[in-house]
Parts: sequence; structure tokens; C-alpha cells
Amino acid sequence: MEFTDELYGDRLILKRNVPDIELAKKIFEIVDSNREHLGKWFPWEKLTLKIEDTMKYLFDTEKKTEEGEEVGYGIYLNNEYIGNIDLFELDEKGKSGKIGYWISSKFSGNGYMTEAVKILEKEIFKKLGLNRIQIKCDERNKASKKVIEKCGYVFEGKSREDEYSEHFKDFRNTLIFSKLKSEY
Ligand SMILES: CC(C)(COP(=O)(O)OP(=O)(O)OC[C@H]1O[C@@H](n2cnc3c(N)ncnc32)[C@H](O)[C@@H]1OP(=O)(O)O)[C@@H](O)C(=O)NCCC(=O)NCCS
Repeated sequence: MEFTDELYGDRLILKRNVPDIELAKKIFEIVDSNREHLGKWFPWEKLTLKIEDTMKYLFDTEKKTEEGEEVGYGIYLNNEYIGNIDLFELDEKGKSGKIGYWISSKFSGNGYMTEAVKILEKEIFKKLGLNRIQIKCDERNKASKKVIEKCGYVFEGKSREDEYSEHFKDFRNTLIFSKLKSEY
């Protein structure tokens, strides 16, 4: 699969992440100052303890990108890195993939993630030619659910207590949404 390096929206640019130490420093800095914001939803927050951990994430993603399984983009506002959006678990034959995302709390609530999802789904349906995108979120994650709904994804159902949340110390219910090419 041929991934585009830069994708443009009205306010944002998505730049494909590459294993670069300056980028790793920037991502780590944001993760480190957003531990509560991110740790509620992502187990990897607790595993991201130093810049090398972020560098490993970048190397691992690059390898998966070469294998056509995943691509990660930094979200840039006025040339500043403010968050991340990934297309992962790409299935070339089944023409499907999943989107995951986060943004620094400082920039939340401005419609940026809604814009980022729309930029990436255009690439996914128009350029990559996929047929289906799935987005999942914890039932408690109201902001993420709102983004998914604002982007017009269809609610498919709820996986009950399908994962253990270290943060909430209980099993989480996961909401599953999708969009098909025919709905784009
Ligand atoms: C979820 C997240 C990506 C949203 O990013 P964002 O740029 O703030 O999203 P947007 O501004 O496009 O939209 C957020 C919407 O949620 C709403 N919202 C925020 N917190 C909310 C809450 N507690 N209850 C209800 N709605 C809420 C906002 O008002 C906004 O809706 P509006 O435009 O109708 O006012 C961001 O909060 C984040 O990074 N959270 C931590 C990581 C995470 O949860 N990732 C997703 C895992 S599935």
C-alpha cells in the first residue's frame, strides 16, 4: 500500500511519522504532560516512560508501514505537533482498517480531531481504496464518542466488558462504530 506523506485540511496538516529523535522528543513531551488525559484510555501511557519508548513506537510503526499494516500521522497546527492519528490493522484483502487518535488536552475542544478524522478518511476511501473503517471507544469516553458521531460513523454495537481498564480498575464496555465507502 502506498501511503501519502502529507495530508492537508483547512487548519491542520497530517504528516506521516518517521523514526526521528526530534519527533520522538516532541511526542514524549506531550505524552508526559498529558498522563491523566491519555492514561484513562490508553494502556501504552504507563509503558511510555522515556523518549526511547516513543522512539521504539516510531520504529515499530515504520516497520508495520513497510509491511502495509499500519500508518501513523502527526497532527500539526501552525507547524506544531499537537496529537496523533493512526490507521492500523489494515487488511488489504478485506479492504478494512481501524482508526485511533489522541490530541494534547491543551488543544481539545476545537474540532481538531473531527477535522483530522475527516482528512484521514478521505485518504483511506479515495486513495487507499478501502471499503470499511472501524473506530472503537470506551463507553465512558464521551469526547471520543462525540468525534465519531460528528464524523457520521454508524453505531454497530457494544462489546460488553471486553477489556480490563487499569485506570478505572474494572472491565470496560467498548462501543464499535464503522463507516463504509458507500456511506462516504
Ligand atoms: C477524544 C479526543 C481525541 C477529542 O479530540 P478533540 O480535538 O477535542 O475533538 P473535537 O473538538 O473534534 O470534538 C470533541 C467533542 O466532544 C465534546 N466533549 C468533550 N468532552 C466531553 C464530555 N465530557 N462529554 C460530552 N461531550 C464532550 C466536545 O464538546 C466536542 O463536541 P462539540 O464540537 O459538539 O462541542 C481528545 O479528547 C483526546 O485526545 N482524548 C484522550 C485520548 C482519547 O480519548 N483518544 C480516543 C480513544 S478512543
